[in-house]
Amino acid sequence: MTPVPATALPAGIVPGQPLTALAPMQDVTDLPFMRVIARHGAPDYYFTEFFRVHAQSRLEKHILRSIDENDTGRPVFAQLIGEDLEHMTRAARELLAHPVAAVDLNMGCPAPKVYKKNVGGGLLRDPAKIDSLLGALRDACPGLFTVKMRIGFEDTRHFETILGLIDKHRVDLLSLHGRTVKEMYRSEVHYEFIARAVRAVRCPVLANGNVTSAATAVRVLRETGAAGVMIGRHAIRNPWIFAQCREAFAGRPVTPVTLGQVDAYVRGLYAATEVPGLGELILVNKMKKYLNFVGQSVDPTGAFLHDMRRTRSRDELFAVCDRHLLAEPDKVFSDEPYPGVVARPNCETPDADGCSLDSVTA
Ligand SMILES: Cc1cc2nc3c(=O)[nH]c(=O)nc-3n(C[C@H](O)[C@H](O)[C@H](O)COP(=O)(O)O)c2cc1C
Repeated sequence: MTPVPATALPAGIVPGQPLTALAPMQDVTDLPFMRVIARHGAPDYYFTEFFRVHAQSRLEKHILRSIDENDTGRPVFAQLIGEDLEHMTRAARELLAHPVAAVDLNMGCPAPKVYKKNVGGGLLRDPAKIDSLLGALRDACPGLFTVKMRIGFEDTRHFETILGLIDKHRVDLLSLHGRTVKEMYRSEVHYEFIARAVRAVRCPVLANGNVTSAATAVRVLRETGAAGVMIGRHAIRNPWIFAQCREAFAGRPVTPVTLGQVDAYVRGLYAATEVPGLGELILVNKMKKYLNFVGQSVDPTGAFLHDMRRTRSRDELFAVCDRHLLAEPDKVFSDEPYPGVVARPNCETPDADGCSLDSVTA
């Protein structure tokens, strides 16, 4: 039976608190990862990685799993990326046969391969196109229709116009990454633009970009007036971050995490990521993508990262965990990344000249 679409945003875990969401991340926010996050304290909302939509596209089965088999107890918003009105509305209708909390449109992906096709962040150059796409998707979605975007393409010249379109088409929730597409992941986050969006649009806004800890979430909410925070990379680093946000929002002290707990997280993630037939080296390499973020809070010199990046087998990987995480299991895992310990040097440093698609996709 087709689920009946909801027309109000799902309630958060703690009524009255600001909302939290796990940001959509391609090749990361799949069902196993969502489950691992739920074990450490679920966010209020999950978002799928994006479904690519074009003339020949079909909803990708592995992404559909994160909707159909979602047993985290929290709603999942399904994200689409594309620009063709006919196929985008077809995909939205197909999604509505699945238990999605909402259909979400990606207007932020900064990968050149993507924006050159005028999808994702590429749409931000063309308000007329956004107008027609939002209109078509709004008509196709009797339930909730949401948008995730950045503040502009190379500058913010269309920002106010696009916010007007968000209102015109009665978008139900706006997740706003406070950088332009051209700023990728490198610049400061322009929270003042998030504050402007909060004042301009009728729907709730989730503030996104560099929300590194519960304390940062509280500060960003104060600065922007947003309805909640959306957290991506720092939830990979620290999956306790949503539970910690709830503590901070309640005015309670945030429970620290120990290196011993981080070791258990890493081993749990390995087990969750393991699928029959997946070669050990592929799995170890997938783990390295997660551990690049985890390593930012293990030690201030980046020694864990250095050793972890050189491993080539499961045993070597866990030996690094034994050395760096279990040697002093009661030591505190830093709730902020250590300064200068960078997860992806080709992406997150200001002087980086490029980001491979392999490591950055949106
Ligand atoms: C590996 C990776 C994959 C991503 N994939 C997507 C995606 O599929 N859709 C999307 O809207 N944003 C995607 N993003 C962007 C994030 O959702 C988020 O906007 C960005 O990382 C900034 O938030 P953060 O500082 O909390 O990580 C991706 C980011 C990363 C790091």
